[in-house]
Order: sequence, then structure tokens, then C-alpha cells
Amino acid sequence: MNVLFIGDVVGKGGRKAVAELVPILKKEFDCDFVIVNGENTAGGGGMTAKCANTLFESADVITMGDHTWDQKEFATEIDSLEHLIRPANFSKTQPGKGFTIVKTSQGDIAVVNLQGQVFMKEIAHSPFEVIDDILAEIPNSVKNIFVDFHAEATSEKIGMAYYLDGKVTGVIGTHTHVQTADAKVLPNGTAFMCDVGMVGAEHSVLGRNKNAVIEKFTTGMPKRFAVIEKNIRLDACVISFNHETGKANKIVNFSRQSSI
Ligand SMILES: [Fe+2]
Ligand SMILES: [Fe+2]
Repeated sequence: MNVLFIGDVVGKGGRKAVAELVPILKKEFDCDFVIVNGENTAGGGGMTAKCANTLFESADVITMGDHTWDQKEFATEIDSLEHLIRPANFSKTQPGKGFTIVKTSQGDIAVVNLQGQVFMKEIAHSPFEVIDDILAEIPNSVKNIFVDFHAEATSEKIGMAYYLDGKVTGVIGTHTHVQTADAKVLPNGTAFMCDVGMVGAEHSVLGRNKNAVIEKFTTGMPKRFAVIEKNIRLDACVISFNHETGKANKIVNFSRQSSI
């Protein structure tokens, strides 16, 4: 079985590129299941139910991250979205959930969302403690488990991947919007890459206006970073695995230019 995993979708341009390219990529890589990180989908920051439902036309599960609550109304919408998950190590008092299980013709697939603690906003719980609880909660009959580890530091991501090697099918990093060149299957059958990248503008800083970002860096003055909605590139990976054992045998990363 093959799963297509797509990095942080940025703004309207990102949404359009996903709609255009996912049907093509599903055919090309023979993918049955699609996971998309959507934390920057609505105007470049956060999510709305409307944007989520648009993404669900292409995705089976949407994961989030540190921008989950950027759109104020989303706190009242998240619980209506069955297969949208936010980091599981947020405070238990917050709406939403940290993992979901989807039934497919080839067995159940669990997707977990975690957020890192290194060089990130403070977060309620350690992702390493929370993942242990979640793995205990997921029924043994669910063999295929994917973790979106939304984190900044490569060390934390690599540490998590080896911590979970053999316990999950894939640990895929998101958040930096820059694809790393380290995709591999770890010794006990977990597919991993530090960061899968983004769906955002080729000539931008993480999907935003490069000139505004340069001005902020050169002057230190506060600046609004507009989302760039054209020349959109989609970064993704495909994880191939045995759906009866949950062991990965291959991970391939790539980028694809859209017509947007
Ligand atoms: Fe993020
Ligand atoms: Fe992001």
C-alpha cells in the first residue's frame, strides 16, 4: 500500500495546487491514502471548516501544528471535522483531537499529530510521553500508524523517529516548509524524513513575500508577510508499506511544480 504525504499547504495558491496535483500524483504513485498538513491553509495561518472541507476533497486526513488556532472561529469548528487532527500534546482542555483512525479497504490507518518542544512555542506536554499513551490506546488490530511530527529541530525529529522505529509505519516531519534530503526506512521498518516541505510559492520565504521578510531581517521593524499565491510548488513523499504488518519498505520524496 502507498500513502501520499504532503507538507504544509500555504494559502489559496496551496489549496489550488493540491486540488490540481493530488489526482495526478495518486495515479502516478498508485496511492490509496493521502495525508496533508493544513496548518497554513487559511490565508497562510490556521484553518477554517470551509478550507478543511475543500482540502478533504483531496485528503483523507488533515494534520495541523503550531498555527492551529490562528483563525479565531476554528476552535468552534474543529470538532465537526472527523479526520482533522491537531497536535496531541496540546493541553487536554483544548478542542479537537490528536489522532484519528480511518477505515480503508486494506485495513485501518491511524494518523497521529505531535508538536515538538525545541525552538517552538511552549506546549503543554512532551510529545515523547504523549505518543506512548496514544500507542497504548490504538487497538492492536490497527497495524498502520503514521505520525506527523510538527517540529523545528532536526535532532528532535530524528530522536522521535528512532524512538518510534518499529512501532509505527512512518514518522514524517512538517513545520519548516523546507524539504530535507534524508528520507529513509529505519532498521525496524519505520519510514522517516525530517521535513516533507510545503505547498507554497517557489520564490518566497516559506510561502510568504520574500521582500517583506528581508526588510524585517534588515531593519528589525514589524512587518506583515503577505502570502504569495503564484508559481506554487508541491513538496511530498510517498511511503510504501506492507499493510498487514505495518512495516515500511520504501520512502520517496519529491517536489512538483503546479500550473498555479
Ligand atoms: Fe508550524
Ligand atoms: Fe507551517
